[in-house]
Amino acid sequence: MKLRSALLLTALVMTSLLSCKSNKSSETKVDKKWWKEAIVYQIYPRSFKDSDGDGIGDLKGIISKLDYIKSLGVNVVWLNPIYSSPNDDNGYDVSDYRNIMKDFGTMQDFDALLKGMHDRGIKLVMDVVVNHSSDEHEWFKSARASRTSPYRDYYHWWNAERGHPNYRYSLFDINHDAWKYDSVTNAYYLHYFSGKQPDLNWENPKLRKEVYDIMKFWAQKGVDGFRLDAFQFAAKDTTFPKWPEGWEKDFIKYYAMGPHLHDYLKEMNKEVFSKYDVMSVAEGAGNSFQDAHDLVDADRKELGMAYAFEAVDIAKPEGYSLVHFKEVFTKWDSAFADKGWLSIFLANHDQARLVSRYGDDSPLYREVSSKMLSTFLMTMRGTPYYYNGDELGMSNFGFDSIGQINDMPTRNEYQHLKETGGDLNAFMDRVKFGCRDNGRTPFQWDSTLFAGFSSNTPWLAANRNYTTVNAAQQEKDPNSVLNYFRKIVQLRKDNPVLVYGKYALLDKDNKGVYSFTRELNGKKLLIMLNFGKINDVAHTGLDLKDATLLISNYGDASHSGDLRPFEAVVYELKE
Ligand code: GLC
Repeated sequence: MKLRSALLLTALVMTSLLSCKSNKSSETKVDKKWWKEAIVYQIYPRSFKDSDGDGIGDLKGIISKLDYIKSLGVNVVWLNPIYSSPNDDNGYDVSDYRNIMKDFGTMQDFDALLKGMHDRGIKLVMDVVVNHSSDEHEWFKSARASRTSPYRDYYHWWNAERGHPNYRYSLFDINHDAWKYDSVTNAYYLHYFSGKQPDLNWENPKLRKEVYDIMKFWAQKGVDGFRLDAFQFAAKDTTFPKWPEGWEKDFIKYYAMGPHLHDYLKEMNKEVFSKYDVMSVAEGAGNSFQDAHDLVDADRKELGMAYAFEAVDIAKPEGYSLVHFKEVFTKWDSAFADKGWLSIFLANHDQARLVSRYGDDSPLYREVSSKMLSTFLMTMRGTPYYYNGDELGMSNFGFDSIGQINDMPTRNEYQHLKETGGDLNAFMDRVKFGCRDNGRTPFQWDSTLFAGFSSNTPWLAANRNYTTVNAAQQEKDPNSVLNYFRKIVQLRKDNPVLVYGKYALLDKDNKGVYSFTRELNGKKLLIMLNFGKINDVAHTGLDLKDATLLISNYGDASHSGDLRPFEAVVYELKE
């Protein structure tokens, strides 16, 4: 019997191998999903468009720009939080999850925005901030008032008669102490972010149910997806044991992926995601490929796609190694080649500007390097997330004093260094290059006062280059960064190979050029990107004489490996 089944098995394997070989036209099976084919455009509502002249962007402002958003070709919008909030952290401190922040408008505005998007074939992803709430949320107000409040266990408390809790690092607190003493009930509460962002207690099933109900509220309104803010930190060992020295600050390593995180995601999936056709992504992907996989492998029924930080952290003021950059993208791609799905991004609201960090924002190269970076993001495997303003090549502000900064953690860190005698000059150099307010300056619509963003002084000053770098001007120029972005988005939409096709890195040790192929069902594209400001050569070993040029950020191309500064080309190769 045993022998018979072994023979049968061999026969089966042989037949399937043969059929693979002989049936050359057989299609590679891809697990298609709308959110894999999505091009996500991230809108920072505070800075996008102000409709009522208070200097703060709002929902009506976004509504007035829906045709612009549609014209980009993107098909999903991720909105940073728009819920009621005292704005300690610009909306990442929610005081009412079922209401709209006053600065941004009303629920009627939201309904109109959602309809306006859907009418234009654009889906909407909401930011869900549930690692913590605001300390001004009704839950916390009640929890803080008494030890017997029904909401007490929605948060993490440590009664002071037990002594001081073991140290936990806070990312945003001036003293980096995540425990804040509250005299009302003689207890400490936990806050990984600011003191006004108390951590929610995910170990409490009642809290979890509240969150799922909130998500259902938005799903029933028709939103198309959820981005879970800081969610890798949500699960905690509530005994708060003492950690070995050196653990305190290594935030991702020791604070992420706590016990039961996967159970909570499975529960959320069962309660919410599985009931609606929504996309789901959590900020951060743990410490390893294994963590990232466990979050998104379809069989596990947790999240749809991973959003890993390794690549976005590569840029440094002193520059970065392209070889390392390639290694990072390539290893993540290969780890997800057969299973799971990734987000592809190099910028978001927590980063300075794309072109200033990964390209060159000098007048000579700002445009061409912006186009090159857009080409990269739109030709990789994974769902691209593109941050508003990058399609114009908006660049860093050039902050040189702390007075120009609005961002709470940056101001807190400055204060901390001041009090502890730290090096403020070195800190300000880092702020200039990397402070997230660089990415939050008002969207540059035109060359009128305040960049056409508002009729009044904006909450954060506009970049001085708005008179030359703005949407109105770029609309008129067929070769603008904006119009190139539209073309490269269209190229991705026209070529499923760019979504699902196999990725292969070529010429990996080349220090200046990133070359790779994408291949699906007989179609093969070659992408060559010069990441430097000198002429350079890609050594791909491929003959490009008969290759079809699909796009080039210079408008033409040499049909060879020779590339001009920041040149980006996409060819279709002959079979
Ligand atoms: C996430 C958000 C960031 C916010 C933090 C606290 O990292 O992206 O903007 O400050 O969480 O909510």
